[in-house]
Parts: sequence; C-alpha cells; structure tokens
Amino acid sequence: MIKHISIFILALTCSTNSFSQTYASQGMVVSDNSEASKVGIEILQKGGNAIDASIATAFALAVTHPQAGNIGGGGFMVYMDDASNVTTIDFREMAPIKASSTMFLDENGELIKGSNHNGALSIGVPGTVAGLYLAHQKYGKLPWKELVQPAIDLAKNGVVLSYTLASHAKRIDNSNSPEFLKGLYLDNDGKPLKFGSIWKQRALAGTLELIRDNGKDGFYTGPVAEEIERYMIENGGIITKKDLLEYEAIQREPLRGTYKGYDIFSMAPPSSGGVAMLEMLNIMELANLENVPFNSTEYVHLTAEAMRRAFADRAEHLGDPDFNLEMPLDKLTSKEFAKNRLSNIDLEHASMSDSSQFGQLYDGRNTTHFSVIDKDGNAVSVTYTLEQSYGSGMGSEKLGFIFNNEMGDFNPQPGYTNSGWLIGTDPNLIAPKKRMLSSMTPTIVAKDGKPVLVIGSPGGRTIINTVFQTVLCFLEYDMSINEAIEAMKIHHQWLPNKLVYEENKLSPDTVEALKLMGHDVQARKTLGRLMGISIDKENGVNVGASDSSSPDGGAVGY
Ligand code: GLY
Repeated sequence: MIKHISIFILALTCSTNSFSQTYASQGMVVSDNSEASKVGIEILQKGGNAIDASIATAFALAVTHPQAGNIGGGGFMVYMDDASNVTTIDFREMAPIKASSTMFLDENGELIKGSNHNGALSIGVPGTVAGLYLAHQKYGKLPWKELVQPAIDLAKNGVVLSYTLASHAKRIDNSNSPEFLKGLYLDNDGKPLKFGSIWKQRALAGTLELIRDNGKDGFYTGPVAEEIERYMIENGGIITKKDLLEYEAIQREPLRGTYKGYDIFSMAPPSSGGVAMLEMLNIMELANLENVPFNSTEYVHLTAEAMRRAFADRAEHLGDPDFNLEMPLDKLTSKEFAKNRLSNIDLEHASMSDSSQFGQLYDGRNTTHFSVIDKDGNAVSVTYTLEQSYGSGMGSEKLGFIFNNEMGDFNPQPGYTNSGWLIGTDPNLIAPKKRMLSSMTPTIVAKDGKPVLVIGSPGGRTIINTVFQTVLCFLEYDMSINEAIEAMKIHHQWLPNKLVYEENKLSPDTVEALKLMGHDVQARKTLGRLMGISIDKENGVNVGASDSSSPDGGAVGY
C-alpha cells in the first residue's frame, strides 16, 4: 500500500521537513548510516535474505555509528518471513550476577545521583552478538563469516569521518572525556580527527575477526571475555567471565494487536514498547479519528491522554517477563481495556498525572533503528542500543568497542517514586541476571499476512510514542512512509506531567488551546529518528525513508 497525497494537499494538513523517499523493486535497507545500509544491500544482492542483511548492517553500524550501533549493548529484532510467520529475538542486556536492587544507593538508602548511568557499574552484560548469532542460526542463509566481514573491512580500511562524527570529535575534551572516546576520535597529537579524514578502528577490527571466526563464542568466551573481565576489575565493574558465558539471547513470541484490519507485530517485555503502543492504538481506534483532523487540538489532546494512560500502566506492570510471571499483557492490550481507558478522557481538559511515580525525558539521539525488506518479502525490524549516546563512554583499548550503560534503565531506588523522573516500582528493580525494562519498539505492520510497514526509532521513552504516531499517521491519516515519519510528533509519559511537541510543527493557536485545557506544554526541536519502509506488494514497490533528523542516515535499495 503506497499512499499518494499531493504535496499541496499535505501542506494543508500537516507540516513536514523533507519529502525524500527511496523506491526499490527488490530489497531495501534503511538505517541511521548510509554506509551501513549499503553493506546490508550488498548482502541482499549476494543472495542473502533480510536476516543476513540485518546482521551485516548491525555489525557495520557498530563501526560507522558508534553512538548507538554496537556490539557492547543490546536490543530487539522483530522478524516476519515470507510465509507470514512472525517471531522476535530478545538480546537485551542483563544485570550481572553480582548486581542488587540497592547497588546504586548510599548508606542512607538514597540514590547516588548519576551513579546508575555512569562508570563501570552502569554496564549491563552485552547481548548484541548473541542476538545476531541466534538470528543467523535460526534464519540466516549466507555463511556467518560473510556477514561480519564487511564490518571488519570498514574498521580496518577505515571510513571517511562524517561531518556529524567530526563534530563529536571536536567535543572530546582532553581532560574530562572518557579515555576510550579520546582514543576513538583524537589523533596521536591529541587533536580531534577532522571531517573527511580516513578513520580506522584496528582494535575493533580485531574483536570482529574473533567474532567472525568463532561466532558467539568469539565474544562471550576466550580472549574477549578475558579482557572484559580484566577491564571490569580494573575499573570497578562487576561483569565476570561467568556472566558472559551464561548470557543467552531469547526467542520470544511477538506481541500482536490490530488496528482497523491491519495486524501490528511488536516487541513484548522486557520491552514495554509493544504493550504501550498497542494500548494507545486501541484507544485511538475507538476514538473515531475520522472526525479528528491530524494536528488539530483535539488530535494532540487525545494522543497525549492515550500516552499518559499507557505510560502509567507501563510503570505499574512491566518488567522482565522471566522475573514478573503475572504481567497482565492480554488485558493491557485488549480492546475492552482500551474502552475503559478512553472512557475517562475528558475531551475539554487535561487529566491529572496524580500518582507520585515515574518519568524521564531522554535525549532522542541514543539508540538506533534499522528496517530491512528482501526480494521475497521477508521483513526485519531491529532497534538496538548502548542506552545513552556512546553508552558508558567506556571500553577497553584492546577490544575497541564501547560498553553500554543500560543498568540505568532499571528502577534504581526500590519503593521511591516522585513526580520528576524517578520510579521505584517492583517489576523493574535490579536483580541478578534480570533484563532491564526497555522502550524500544521495533514494529512490523501487516495486511493479510504480508508486511506493509517496517518501522522503529531511537529516543528512550519517546520511542514508544513516535512509533505509535507514525503507525497512526500511516494507517489512519493515509500518509506515505516519509510523510508519516516527518509528521509532527508529541510526547507524554504520564510523569513528569508535560506535553512535549515538535516546535514549528504545531500552530501557536493549537499550543494556546492545549494550555487552556490544562496541558503543561513544552517545545522540543525534534522527537524520534524513524527509519522505515513501506511495502506495496501488489505493485512490487518498496519505499524507504530515513528521518530528516538523521544527518548520516540513508535508505538504500535495489
Ligand atoms: N535504552 C533505551 C531503551 O531500551 O528503552
């Protein structure tokens, strides 16, 4: 399904930044870095399938997009094959065996400010290599080695340093920045590498070679595991060789919902993304949006109120399913529950966020998403992350990759919640070998068993809302993939009780009207960085679009 709306009509109904879409009849890869997208396409052209292309793209992003592309972090994959089977792979990081629910508290039981996001204790046991390896074992077609090799070539031979990464290099300060990032971006004289210079990562190439030759074991055992343990001991971390040996990626059932005849497949816990998005889509489906123009005051109010409710439910109920056996997922994603949630939305006034629990606005630049479709119609949606941009900023010079700081996604202080960003509810407290709750929402929308949309985004808790609104714009407001990605987004996460909107994309009248309804509104430059593909099987066209907020992103097809 490709929707053609003239730019003239569109200009009347929504604001957009860019109208660039890429069309391809065979395969398509859309990622935050066009070099990595090209690597994926080359794999497809060699006869690889969408899983192969995803693995190669993920390893390439670990080289070309080190802010979030990674082998030291974790993430989720949603996969739909050409026979309509859908599955997911959970490669979320895990708390080390020595972790505890009070590990970030001082002797008075107070959170040591920033401790859960800084230093070696903030690092979770990485899952990316195990996840990609599991995907390959189950569904890959080309040899593993051929999928890792392109990333090795990029790291060894070097890539041209992009303007974006050169600007990151300039911000690396010789005294205060993490040693690892200095090694990444400063030359032998301690000067930042320049835009356009050839940027090589030899240590990373060496680690990737071990992964190429030994698969998952190349990371979780042997010299890499030895060095990770040594580095942790030296830097006050607690990850051991045993943690690495025992880490496992897990294949899980996808979460499935519907919207007006379309099937929505997304990630189940330990991500909260699928549950919260389905709850919001169900509310919106019942809200008769046919009579609600996109971007109108009523539209923004309704979506914000749906978000408020879904995020409150997220806080109360969701965490690692292996530790929370009674999560009411069926209830939260049911149409009946949405009816209940919709029934108390006051169309004239903002609701209260009155329980003293969670909220944290993240920077939208962390995490990264890519979408893949191959010529046979196999679709892959992957979001993976180091948590914050460049994760912990820490890494061993010998290994060349950056460690995540994903322990910051756990609730850090048991029982303590406030109206700011802290939440202390039980389902997401730290425990050994537990996976921290995520907001990543890799999603595939299908019609009659065939994918029509592959989509996802970075952005911390804003991820759920940006993916939700993009799906809504595509299905309900009949936008093309690019229009849906560029369309105005808002964010509300219950607490803090703020309605964030993309500046210059809402009319001042609407902003004023929302204030009068009682919303505490706050402008923000952009929300999300969506990477999507729409698939028109009937006409044999795939359309890819990378968010205009991604400076190095690219949709590449053939
Ligand atoms: N670290 C971002 C997330 O998993 O939601």
